Amino acid sequence: MMAAEGWYPPPYPQDRLEGLRSVAEATGAVVDLSVGDPCDPLPPIVADALATAQGRAERYPASIGFPEVREAASGWMQRRLRVVVSAEHVRACVGTKEFVASLPRFLSLRDPARDTILYPAISYPTYAMGATLAGLRAVPVPMGDGWHLDFDAVDEADARRALLLWCNEPANPTGAVPTAGWFEEVVSWGRARGILVASDECYVEFSSLEGVGDRATVLVAGLDGVLAVHSLSKRSNMAGLRVGFIAGDAGLVEYLGEVRKHAGLMAAGPVQMAAAVALGDDAHVELQRARYAERRRLFLDALAGTGVEHQGGSGTFYLWLDDTGGRDGWELAGDLAKAGIVAAPGDLYGEAPARHVRVALTAPTSDLGVACTRLRHVLGAG
Ligand SMILES: Cc1ncc(COP(=O)(O)O)c(C=O)c1O
Repeated sequence: MMAAEGWYPPPYPQDRLEGLRSVAEATGAVVDLSVGDPCDPLPPIVADALATAQGRAERYPASIGFPEVREAASGWMQRRLRVVVSAEHVRACVGTKEFVASLPRFLSLRDPARDTILYPAISYPTYAMGATLAGLRAVPVPMGDGWHLDFDAVDEADARRALLLWCNEPANPTGAVPTAGWFEEVVSWGRARGILVASDECYVEFSSLEGVGDRATVLVAGLDGVLAVHSLSKRSNMAGLRVGFIAGDAGLVEYLGEVRKHAGLMAAGPVQMAAAVALGDDAHVELQRARYAERRRLFLDALAGTGVEHQGGSGTFYLWLDDTGGRDGWELAGDLAKAGIVAAPGDLYGEAPARHVRVALTAPTSDLGVACTRLRHVLGAG
């Protein structure tokens, strides 16, 4: 076939880490902390629910989500996020990455007069990729103090063209958590300009690993012009099962539910039933939160006296490291690789954070402990 001249995707971010991976592998004991990929077991109640839901495998599942999963999502939001959102305003998705990647296209079909997607300058790469896949402009919004999205810095000319503003707190990769009243402010900014505010809240259950976190959602500001995006991947270690949901603006949720039916986007039937059970249980989430909190303490203790600091917030299971000694992100990641640790240089998350490195606390605690001892040795702390 003749080579086409059009667009071709850039290297996938994780594929850029092959060099670091080879260095780490040469130590003979690699610990991969480069991806936010849960390493802990599927909660037993979820495994059981999956096994007993096989009767949902033969027929096509509901694209919008079975009533069971939409009701469970509504109950979870009331219990954990203290907002009342009826199941009518909830739709299932096939994990949230596909939703993040496809939303701009679906929004632009509905409102072709606008052509811009606003997203945090330091963020999960799929926000910008969704705009690219839709043929739209991806415009990064600068980060302000504390790694919060500085939506006031958006140029009004870009705002007039914007379909959507993405926000993501607790944030990947920085761990920033929303301050009191922040969601209300961003929503009122969006409403004043007719811009949908979509809040990716997949880390909300890990709002603070340093105490009891205040779990916050954009939905405190009401549903109009707002969408909250939730995933079971991190909360319930269900990343391999691919399920999440959205909730928010009545007209938009209805539109997205319809267009997604046409696109054949359906979470698998047994997986939806397992998600309903997972959303009804908080004990397994507390257990998971305690695991991440322990790993976080372990890693931060190992950094003491090395000149490398976590400069991000208290949420998610990521550390956002900066070397006060001046190494840039790739150099610091190179040194971590000598200790067998694969981590992600900051420039995977945007152009600005070249000095930083993101570490995901997604390795078994015992492996992490061994890696931390090697890390102190390599960084010259012991
Ligand atoms: C900020 C953010 N949003 C969305 C996702 C996608 O999660 P999933 O597709 O597993 O629901 C991730 C995964 O790492 C993420 O970090």
